[in-house]
Amino acid sequence: MDFSKMVNFVVLAAGKGTRMYSDLPKVMHHVAGTPMINVLLNEMKLCNPHSSTLVVAQEGEQVITESISNIELGAKNFVIQKERLGTGHAAKLALEKCEDSELAGVLVILYGDTPFIRKETVFSLQEEIKQGNVVSVVGFDVNRDNQYGRLVTDSDGRLTEIVEYSSADEQQKNITLCNSGIMALDLRYAKKLLDQIDNKNIKEEYYLTDVVSVAVKEGLRVSYIRADESEVQGVNNKIELAKANDYYYALLRKRFLEKGVTLIDPDTIYLADDVVVGKDVIIEPNVVILKGVVIADNVRIKSFSYIEEASIGDNVSIGPFARIRPGSKIYDEAKVGNFVEVKNSVIGKNSKVSHLSYIGDAELEEDVNIGAGTITCNYDGYNKYKTKIEKNVFVGSNTALVAPVKVGNGAIVGAGSAIIRDIPSNSITIARSEQKDILGGADKYRNSRRKKTT
Ligand code: UD1
Ligand code: MG
Repeated sequence: MDFSKMVNFVVLAAGKGTRMYSDLPKVMHHVAGTPMINVLLNEMKLCNPHSSTLVVAQEGEQVITESISNIELGAKNFVIQKERLGTGHAAKLALEKCEDSELAGVLVILYGDTPFIRKETVFSLQEEIKQGNVVSVVGFDVNRDNQYGRLVTDSDGRLTEIVEYSSADEQQKNITLCNSGIMALDLRYAKKLLDQIDNKNIKEEYYLTDVVSVAVKEGLRVSYIRADESEVQGVNNKIELAKANDYYYALLRKRFLEKGVTLIDPDTIYLADDVVVGKDVIIEPNVVILKGVVIADNVRIKSFSYIEEASIGDNVSIGPFARIRPGSKIYDEAKVGNFVEVKNSVIGKNSKVSHLSYIGDAELEEDVNIGAGTITCNYDGYNKYKTKIEKNVFVGSNTALVAPVKVGNGAIVGAGSAIIRDIPSNSITIARSEQKDILGGADKYRNSRRKKTT
């Protein structure tokens, strides 16, 4: 049997997450802007699973199903665990859902709140099963007080059982090799082993961890592998969530650096896991780039910029202090400068919005120059309207473009204009009140003020 092709995942995610103090299912909390469950399953899809079965609580089902709907995980099953009777019970429910055709190969049990497990670790577990172990567990070393289950080994270092902290004696509590919860079972034995687990323990729960002692009693081989603690860190409260968030951002920074992105002061830069970055891109300190952003080559993102769901072409300069909101497309050679907000807009090739502007629901063709303080007035309190600016247009500073409105090809708009109707191509348009000059008026005015105060 080719075990490498037959990984079947079970993801336990029915926990209430009481200590998160949140209405959101625990596994839907974000790390680096992505729900934990998606982080886990995006990595696991790289193992090419034959099937994936998620055990969820009734309340969480819909939001979790939606969140992972686009991830390719083989045959995808959902099981609702009505009563939370323990990890062993949850695993058994999942197994019952597996089709007979899936009952070959390896069952890998994951925890939805332990999102950073790597595909390499799953491959190692698969290898352990291939070598004839019916159970293989991921352990990790912790040299401090903790309440994890302990991996108990015999004098030859072979795993004999997992003892839950609540049931451990003093000697067992001193064991530093702990249980991550993640394990693999040979599917041919899984049902038989899980059926033998009982709930005769302090918590009256069916402990998945008991499969180890059950297998050992049957004379079957079991094993464990070691992972780094950071890989198997779990999230049970907001402190651990914050730690997981930091860990994931750090991991992502490393990935972007490895791909050749220049990050100046990396620790201050936050990049989501799906951001695509081209060659020779420089990101300055204190930049946030959220999901759905594609950046081409030779781009510089200057400090304090905030970008989401946008695409940025070659040789573009963004910021400092720019905000690029969803639906924005910034084409090659364009510039979006300081204190500029762009929302759902196209900035055409070589167009410049250099300072202090709001460009919303607008389409700028190429070679447009937008003066400082220009606002596209896209909203009347009820609806949003579009502004279209054709190529080679020059918009003077402090112009309000009241949408819907179109500025024709090559037009020049005088500074301080309030534009309320379409501007013909090649026109010079000035829409502001006439300037009055009262000659000598300044001195007269000052004198009159002075007399009043003395
Ligand atoms: C479990 C392990 C423990 C290990 C620790 C690592 C058992 C008995 N113990 O303990 O050895 O050190 O994880 O974090 O497995 N879940 C369900 N349905 C249930 C119960 C749990 O889906 O009925 C899910 C939870 O959502 C969670 C996971 O299983 O994702 C683990 O459950 P949890 O109650 O956190 O187990 P621990 O007590 O932490
Ligand atoms: Mg736990």
